[in-house]
Amino acid sequence: MQNIILIGPMGSGKTTVGKQLAKRLRLDFVDSDHMIEDRCGVSISTIFDIEGEEGFRKREAKMLSELCDRAGIVLATGGGAITSEENRIMLRKGFVIYLKTSIETQLSRTQKNQNRPLLDNVDAQEKLAQLMAERGELYEQEADLIVVSGDRVVSKVVDEIVEALDK
Ligand code: S3P
Repeated sequence: MQNIILIGPMGSGKTTVGKQLAKRLRLDFVDSDHMIEDRCGVSISTIFDIEGEEGFRKREAKMLSELCDRAGIVLATGGGAITSEENRIMLRKGFVIYLKTSIETQLSRTQKNQNRPLLDNVDAQEKLAQLMAERGELYEQEADLIVVSGDRVVSKVVDEIVEALDK
């Protein structure tokens, strides 16, 4: 079976949906950012502070390459994973699901968590809109399936994905 890869912007629910989806499909759930944090022993924010975005992207590409070689996982990627061509090629080995959401939902979800360095010391709404303008087309283009996650109950989003996978 192909791995299930969740893509989408910060606050689109990749981790929450991914965990429930993995449970339903009896697969392991892996979150790329959490794996990087475990490996480095520090938060994503600290990695950005010390190594900058460039250093983080190198670690992210290495982690994705390792995870894409595993089988039978549901993988939640970071919102910027699809910005690199090298990553996009790796992710295509799996079944890619784009969790589409509004900037408003992203904003309310990301406000609950401080570990989002790209949103530090900037207007978060503006930054999320700018990132979506840059990346929106890539998310759509890479997706085998697009699911609107928005404010919907997580179990309904998971139902829709499981139904689509059954087809
Ligand atoms: C990023 C999204 C984050 C994390 C890092 C960069 C991005 O992941 O990888 O802060 O470039 O959009 P989430 O999408 O899980 O928040």
